Amino acid sequence: METIHTIAWMQQIARDARVKERILGLVPTMGALHEGHLSLVREALHRCSPVVVSLFVNPKQFGPSEDFQKYPRTLEADRAALEKLGVDYLFAPSPEDMYPKDFRTAVIVEGLGDRLEGRSRPGHFRGVTTVVLKLFEIVQPRLAFFGGKDAQQVRIIRQMTGDLNLDSEMVICPIVREPDGLALSSRNAYLKAGERQSATTLYRSLDAARRAIQSGERDPVRILAELRRVIDSEPAVALDYAEIVDAEAFEPAMALRRPCYILVAARVGGTRLIDNALIEPEGEELRVSL
Ligand code: PAJ
Repeated sequence: METIHTIAWMQQIARDARVKERILGLVPTMGALHEGHLSLVREALHRCSPVVVSLFVNPKQFGPSEDFQKYPRTLEADRAALEKLGVDYLFAPSPEDMYPKDFRTAVIVEGLGDRLEGRSRPGHFRGVTTVVLKLFEIVQPRLAFFGGKDAQQVRIIRQMTGDLNLDSEMVICPIVREPDGLALSSRNAYLKAGERQSATTLYRSLDAARRAIQSGERDPVRILAELRRVIDSEPAVALDYAEIVDAEAFEPAMALRRPCYILVAARVGGTRLIDNALIEPEGEELRVSL
């Protein structure tokens, strides 16, 4: 595996792959890699050659009071894990190369990023779309791999790729969870021993919503009440939002006739976590994936 530190060298390699008509796959990450990230990498290796994993803790997607400084940075372990899987290139640009002093441009997907994560984290999605467009331009991937754990992020990047006619196709991979249901996240590293147990509450609340749906409940308000009951039973967990939204509009769903997400965000101690479940009509039934 070759580690690439400069944008210019990455562009050279991307151009070369294009000319040779190779199917280049990109997995964008902020590092501190775990099995969730690695599942995307495995899927990319399955479908593409060469595979580029980008590792860049993007300052523009962190708010001023967020965890940019303390975000886990584990470059050597990340490099070893990617090398072992057989990744071709690790692209780890410097902040100065990505955002030189006179950088002035931002990518804004209007509407979709104002609510939910965007409301709790103003400016977050503007930072995400700006860096992802830059990565797509630099790496020119045929396929780019993202995790379904960040459902709103996926929706917004999909809007951007369509609106801007980008020549990269998104592949969305399922959420990878710990055996007790907790969705893997680089931020789980912040959880203290007692908090780690409480953190499963997000999964358990989604599971309660799923059970309500499976027993025939179709009213989003009642389904969310079931979910909140589980969150409220755990004093160490402070709910930020819980909503059922239409999977396209990301606006509250009044009925479950079209694909919807149940989205939950909560604080466990000082750590903010998100999780979701997808509800899809399947004949007369509803399938709930989490
Ligand atoms: P990061 O949080 O490092 O996540 C990188 C990718 O891994 C994202 O697509 C995310 O959805 C996916 N991922 C994280 N946890 C996962 C899990 N438990 N199961 C499946 N996939 C999971 O998301 C970002 O970085 C950044 O916003 C980025 C897109 C790289 C732009 O900076």
